[in-house]
Amino acid sequence: MMARPVLIDTDTGVDDALALILALRSRELSVKAITTVAGNVEVGKCTRNALAILHLLGVADKPAVSEGAQKPLCRPLFRAPEVHGTDGLGNARRYILASSTPRMCEQSAAKTIVDHCRSFGNKLVIVALGPLTNLALAWKKNPEAMMKVGRIISMGGAFRVPGNTGPVAEFNYYVDPEAAHLLLNSGLRITIVPLDVTEQIVLMRKELEYRAARRAGRVAKAILRFTKSYMKYHEMTEGFNGGYLHDPLAVAVAIQPDLVQTTRVHVDIETLGRYTRGMSLADFKNKLKRGKPTVEVASKVDRERFLRLFHERIWE
Ligand code: BDR
Ligand code: CA
Repeated sequence: MMARPVLIDTDTGVDDALALILALRSRELSVKAITTVAGNVEVGKCTRNALAILHLLGVADKPAVSEGAQKPLCRPLFRAPEVHGTDGLGNARRYILASSTPRMCEQSAAKTIVDHCRSFGNKLVIVALGPLTNLALAWKKNPEAMMKVGRIISMGGAFRVPGNTGPVAEFNYYVDPEAAHLLLNSGLRITIVPLDVTEQIVLMRKELEYRAARRAGRVAKAILRFTKSYMKYHEMTEGFNGGYLHDPLAVAVAIQPDLVQTTRVHVDIETLGRYTRGMSLADFKNKLKRGKPTVEVASKVDRERFLRLFHERIWE
């Protein structure tokens, strides 16, 4: 089996870190590059977190990490340190990576994205785990090259469920609604993995502790540490001691696309709303009413199969 070339764009927070581990431990994928974007925390911290995860896994053939946008296309940055810690990794990065910053690629994230679309064409899958700023910049830079990409899987949006950043918006699309709107209406082949499916996937603290206890290694110890405050946050706000696996599900869709069922529909992102910034809109009843269907939206997930896959790989 040939591994699928993948580029991961990430605002490396806690669930992004789990998603990176899942991707790097899945032989179906060959992670060619990681690009970072401001979102959960400032972009420099996201870059250090991505490097920390590569260091933790000690992967021989390390993908290059390129740093991307410091802020959304036309707004100041809105972050989520209360969810992911001030370092973006549950305030645990210092246990994984000493203060010196290891090498990263000098080239901008947008250029890395364009170059990979050119080199790998329709074989390339881009998994976008944060705000879509880097991808929108790459699209503006070179739409022809971007059109070659096989598929973009974007974790974002909330269609039939409430938002997690205010009542109607999901975090990634709230942070940079202009980038999301531009990209989702670009004609690129996109699959959206929204809160509708990611919030069906909860990893409970008890289960994590049970699994980690059976694996004495460094990776298990680090996972235990960097997920702690993320899970506490969910206990305070949602009433369960555990965490949603938003971004790992997006990576899993790159590994096994049929883990989710999708609906082809036109999607718009609210950029003007006074109370509805970042809201994702799709008219599922009258699919043609809002315009030509443009993207696939995941609406159902095989939860059991995802969790089996996740645990098999993460604790390897
Ligand atoms: C998304 O927001 C971020 O905080 C998570 O990493 C995930 O990508 C969920 O709304
Ligand atoms: Ca993320």
